Amino acid sequence: MKKGMVITIDGPAGAGKSTVSKLLASRLSFVCLDTGALYRAAAYQLKREGWNGAIEDIADPGRALKVSLKHDEGRVRVMVDGEEVSEKIRTEEIGLLASRISAVPKIREKLLPVQREMAEFGGVVAEGRDMGTVVFPDADVKFFLDASAEERAKRRYMEMTAKGEQVNRTDIKNDLLLRDRQDRERPIAPLVIPAGAVVVDSSNLSIPQVIDFMISVIERACPLR
Ligand code: DC
Repeated sequence: MKKGMVITIDGPAGAGKSTVSKLLASRLSFVCLDTGALYRAAAYQLKREGWNGAIEDIADPGRALKVSLKHDEGRVRVMVDGEEVSEKIRTEEIGLLASRISAVPKIREKLLPVQREMAEFGGVVAEGRDMGTVVFPDADVKFFLDASAEERAKRRYMEMTAKGEQVNRTDIKNDLLLRDRQDRERPIAPLVIPAGAVVVDSSNLSIPQVIDFMISVIERACPLR
């Protein structure tokens, strides 16, 4: 397998992209690029600066975004203006805000070079909503990871209750459906199946099954040379 490969995984919220991309990257000794974390960090920054969540109230959507991902001994730290926010951005509220601001063209423009720079030398599994379409259209292998809304809501619910959060399953499903709609219907870089992507429906697959399947696709596309 060539070292400088770029592998993309796109898909809706809760399909398992984060878990799968981390494990896949580790199996390949690649770096995992979680681009949703950048949009979440941007939402966190705007909120901290007093933004009330309404798109029309982002006075200057082109204002400096101070977000970055820092690779640190196998861990990726999500940073906003020098502060680590890796855990703080993992809330439903920030997820929904991230989805809203991700429809603002200026925000996407600002985050595009940050993402490309991090994959400059390849050896990357990049996950998000527009990886195979906009950010890395020439990726070596593209996946679209999906699962039914019911299954995605169930997984998200279990993940959050395991963290000790008090959440309601219906609210979680409604948030996911709202985020799906926002991410799929926005005019700029909407969530779609990229041309040439292999669609993986993980509704009835375990994580190891998904990883093994992906590895087999990658080996077929880019055999050892
Ligand atoms: O993957 P996630 O749930 O952490 O992403 C949060 C939001 O960020 C998602 O709802 C839409 C946006 N996003 C995006 O527009 N493009 C990406 N490549 C990644 C995330």
